[in-house]
Amino acid sequence: MRHFLDFSDATLSEWEKLYRLFDDMVRHPMAHRDLARGKTMAALFYEPSTRTTFSFQSAMMRLGGGVFAMNNPGSTSVAKGETLKDTIIMCSGYADVIVLRHASEGAAMAASLYSRVPVINAGDGGHLHPTQTLTDLATLHRLRGGVSGLRIGLCGDLKYGRTVHSLLRALTQFDNVKFTLIAPPELAIPDYVRTLLKQKGQDVVETIDLEGALPALDVLYMTRVQKERFSDLHEYERLKGTYVLTEDKLRAAPKDMLILHPLPRVDEISAEVDHDPRAAYFEQARLGMYMRMALLAHLLDQPARTLSLPEEGGVRVCINSHCVTVHETYLSPLTHKGNCRYCEAEILI
Ligand code: CP
Repeated sequence: MRHFLDFSDATLSEWEKLYRLFDDMVRHPMAHRDLARGKTMAALFYEPSTRTTFSFQSAMMRLGGGVFAMNNPGSTSVAKGETLKDTIIMCSGYADVIVLRHASEGAAMAASLYSRVPVINAGDGGHLHPTQTLTDLATLHRLRGGVSGLRIGLCGDLKYGRTVHSLLRALTQFDNVKFTLIAPPELAIPDYVRTLLKQKGQDVVETIDLEGALPALDVLYMTRVQKERFSDLHEYERLKGTYVLTEDKLRAAPKDMLILHPLPRVDEISAEVDHDPRAAYFEQARLGMYMRMALLAHLLDQPARTLSLPEEGGVRVCINSHCVTVHETYLSPLTHKGNCRYCEAEILI
């Protein structure tokens, strides 16, 4: 694993190694306090964040490393029109690892082409969020002993929720996980995720009925309707209150069902649920810091490479208006099995 752009960049044996390291970091955090001594992390956040940015910064500091962070692109030369490419070339000369969150889908993949050091995808638009997936898997392993055999309900904005896309893809690599996808048709999973689930022969139920689905679930993964991804705010207003998890609704759920949420929440989980012993989302966010410590330690354990700039130019082929190739126009069109290599949208040519 050189970069971490998607969960598939790690093999299952690397995941097991990461999980063992994570587990040791939770139990003995001080034993790892010098693993990143003398190393620096660049946290480049082009979009707002609380958990991912602070847990990564805290993780690097707990490993004995240093951090420089961009939380407001307007205070950097991005405001003067500097490209992602030039920003990454610069920062990969100043840091030993780059953590990137960006509004454009495929931005982390594009950044990895221009970086001397490992790039970690901390969320690229509505596409993927693989370090949240590591967090989710670690939480399921710690609180449920693993994922095999679980029926996992994912509820809310499955269209724009990047945490859902990453998690579904990762879970297809484990045995016998069953999915119940709970969303209105307007917020159903994108085609490239549905195609993957079909190809892998997964056990998938799609429904709009949260209360009907609850009794059969081992885990409920709630998500926020992603206001920032809607081009039509009236549509957001119409859909935002579709699901609200309350104590009353939870009466129908198993007594040991785990309630997860990548957070932030808006109003899809009522505050009263925080007192329910099944609510594990704050613990999930806490564990994310240890998982990011493990990932950083793993990725920092490799030499920087000499930068060799990729070929550039050519006619853009991706039809996705959120693809990184829309604004970063120097990027070469790259395809893989009929999909854009950056954002994975199907390419119709
Ligand atoms: N779960 C998550 O990505 O939260 P933030 O947007 O606050 O980082």
